[in-house]
Amino acid sequence: MKKLLASYGRDDEFRAVAELIIDEEEKKNNRVLARSLRKTLEAGPSRPPRPKALAPLIPFPEAAGDFIELVEPTHNKQDIVLSAENVRVLLGLMKEFRRADEVRRRGLSVRSKLLFCGPPGCGKTLCAEIFAAELGLPLYIVKLDRLISSYLGETAANVRKIFEFARKQPCVLFFDEFDALARARDDGGEHNELRRVVNSLLIFIDRITPKGFLIAATNLDKALDTAVWRRFDEVIWFDRPDRRMIERFLRMKFKNVAIAVDPTSHVAELDGYSYAEIDRVSVQAIKAAVINKRKEVRESDLREAIADERRRKHGSARLTQPT
Ligand SMILES: Nc1ncnc2c1ncn2[C@@H]1O[C@H](COP(=O)(O)OP(=O)(O)OP(=O)(O)O)[C@@H](O)[C@H]1O
Ligand SMILES: [Mg+2]
Repeated sequence: MKKLLASYGRDDEFRAVAELIIDEEEKKNNRVLARSLRKTLEAGPSRPPRPKALAPLIPFPEAAGDFIELVEPTHNKQDIVLSAENVRVLLGLMKEFRRADEVRRRGLSVRSKLLFCGPPGCGKTLCAEIFAAELGLPLYIVKLDRLISSYLGETAANVRKIFEFARKQPCVLFFDEFDALARARDDGGEHNELRRVVNSLLIFIDRITPKGFLIAATNLDKALDTAVWRRFDEVIWFDRPDRRMIERFLRMKFKNVAIAVDPTSHVAELDGYSYAEIDRVSVQAIKAAVINKRKEVRESDLREAIADERRRKHGSARLTQPT
């Protein structure tokens, strides 16, 4: 099994299956085997990033510059920790996209509108970036609150241009903070102008068949009404990491770092934290070693970084409490 993993570790789908096997073993409580398999898989040949065939860019509607931004990818799939389930779904979507013509020829529709749900700092934006990069598609991030206000300012034509653009340009059109839309829908009274704008945005989203993907991200889950839900072909959940995922994340973060202790011995203390928070802890610990001109990260660096994060988290919890 180990040989198999090491020699075939290059292939995406193989990797996904391997992750599944490892997860299964972990669930069966075969932790030693699972850990050893994962180590082998991660030590496999590291792939030089493949040059992606980038989609040609068509001119971007100038007036949209205020609320839409072309983002250059700075991460790749080695930088993200995803559940085996999400890896499977995302790979399935990529495969479907690559065979889109064939699928359409048979009169079937291609899944292209995705909703990413989950608490802050758990990888929605990061995943959209890596997903686009993997497919060689440019990523355009739409700031929805700005879009709505510009729409209110009677620039409906701009909005139409964006959707026109996404119909022609193979890209990932990413609606960050999609909650703004749901919120505006709630805030607006029955005959409110805002409500009219939001509804027409929803209709746009409904009608569009993107040349690539339309991805919306939200922190809300059940609070999004069904009218919004049913417009998406796929919903993907980005949860806070459980202990197993925290362990994987820490391994990834400290992979190329000299450290005197096993960072995964702190998994229990980080339970309940988001990836972004654990990321901050890792960076702080590594930085402490650099600042103090030490070659290794020490136990105390980690402990202090965790204490700082805890203080910060509790402080911010206090701030958000109603007075
Ligand atoms: N699943 C993950 N794997 C690896 N790193 C992650 C993951 N999720 C978050 N991070 C780290 O946290 C940072 C912030 O994550 P990201 O912006 O994707 O969160 P988000 O889910 O979009 O949050 P928000 O709801 O606040 O927009 C990332 O840049 C990365 O450093
Ligand atoms: Mg985000």
